[in-house]
Amino acid sequence: HAPKAAQSVPINGSPEQNAYMEDIEKQFIIDKDQLTAIKDHFIVEMEKGLNKDKQTMVMIPSYVEGRLTGQEQGHYLALDLGGTNLRVVLVTLEGHGKFKTVSTKARVSEELKTGPMRDLCDYIADCIDTFLTEQNLSNVDEDLPLGYTFSFPVLQSKINRGILTTWTKGFNCTGAVGKDPVLLLQDALLRKHIPVKITALVNDTVGTLLSNAYQKPDTVAGLILGTGSNGAYIEQMAKIGKWKEGPTTASEMVINMEFGAFDNERVILPVTRFDNKLDRKSINPHFQIFEKLISGMYLGEIVRNVITDMMDRNLLFGQPGQNTEAISGHYQFETSFMSSIESDTSADLSTVRDILDTNLNLTNVDDVELRIVKRICELVGTRASRLAAAAIAGIALHTKVDRKGADIGIDGSLYEFYPSFEDRIYQGIAELMPDYADDIQNIVRLGLARDGSGVGAALTACVADKMLKSK
Ligand code: GLC
Repeated sequence: HAPKAAQSVPINGSPEQNAYMEDIEKQFIIDKDQLTAIKDHFIVEMEKGLNKDKQTMVMIPSYVEGRLTGQEQGHYLALDLGGTNLRVVLVTLEGHGKFKTVSTKARVSEELKTGPMRDLCDYIADCIDTFLTEQNLSNVDEDLPLGYTFSFPVLQSKINRGILTTWTKGFNCTGAVGKDPVLLLQDALLRKHIPVKITALVNDTVGTLLSNAYQKPDTVAGLILGTGSNGAYIEQMAKIGKWKEGPTTASEMVINMEFGAFDNERVILPVTRFDNKLDRKSINPHFQIFEKLISGMYLGEIVRNVITDMMDRNLLFGQPGQNTEAISGHYQFETSFMSSIESDTSADLSTVRDILDTNLNLTNVDDVELRIVKRICELVGTRASRLAAAAIAGIALHTKVDRKGADIGIDGSLYEFYPSFEDRIYQGIAELMPDYADDIQNIVRLGLARDGSGVGAALTACVADKMLKSK
């Protein structure tokens, strides 16, 4: 199917409302030239990170060498921390690219996200313990190997060792930065006599790449477009100029890019005052700026910042008796509302009306206001997908994709559930890769890598086994 651009309906509001909307369109729309410049800068930053330590885009070698065959088999435990939920997964790799999973999900409270790391590790250990009991795995002779998907920037020193450099996405536990998340969790498991040994540490993007590669051997990259945003891809060892570990037999290694930090210096990104407002009030001001423009954790809040600015100027929700308490609260406009609002193509925008009413107590909203809210969502959502396209095209061009094409696995709520996100990404990549625009979807083949983090962690535990045996 051909990529389609968002069809926006005219606002037809008051002159003041129309003028405001025209002004923010200018701020949010990224045209082809601007997007090309962003993509070019992205490639430059990739190369910097590959060649020197401590760059904005850190480009972390994952210690996952080589590729999968799809024939890997066995039972592995996986733990996934870093999105909205904590998950414990039992993965059975069946070979032929097939697998089965059984899993349990738990929410991580705000208190745990920002309290002492020891409490978080105790909580995780308890979740693992409960899961093992449910699965009749508590009484084993040998410790069960576990792959740990820890989706934060970790400078790895081995396939199961690393140092957390900083928290992202609203986590901020004390006593964790500068430490090894594997050792901290392994301690908690030991304290509680839980028979599990962490054998692999993996970023969710690396896991997503591996799980996609298990089914599609031509996979070159894995992305998360969810609560946060990031990517991993397969790089040639020879291009990793900063590699200091001496010669390795591997010719390739998976790189965790940490592209959420791209352009923290703000050289090229079109950051608006609405983004700055979000950034200033975040747990990590000035950091992860690219992530803040793209991800599920933040998009709804950017929309809310535009809405409340219009309210302050008497351009929105000014009817007598309107209850604006909910919409005035931080993070009260969820990114999932945007998905539903954007999918409403009805003439009377009844879904938009419904969402504003049910979730935000906004009653007595007129048609112009419905069109305005929808348009703001389109602008913020389209900008996010086009920026994601700049990253994807950057990776594709850097890795010299050719007419044979390549697979890219993507996981995350935004990619999975946001309508038109994928179409808009394709539209953006087609603009950025004009030589391939005629057949873009067969050349940069995006696909959902469902449960990339869980299955990927199991596959990494499997790769860790292989690497150990081959040494
Ligand atoms: C944040 C983390 C990164 C992770 C991404 C997606 O950007 O820093 O490690 O891959 O979120 O979960």
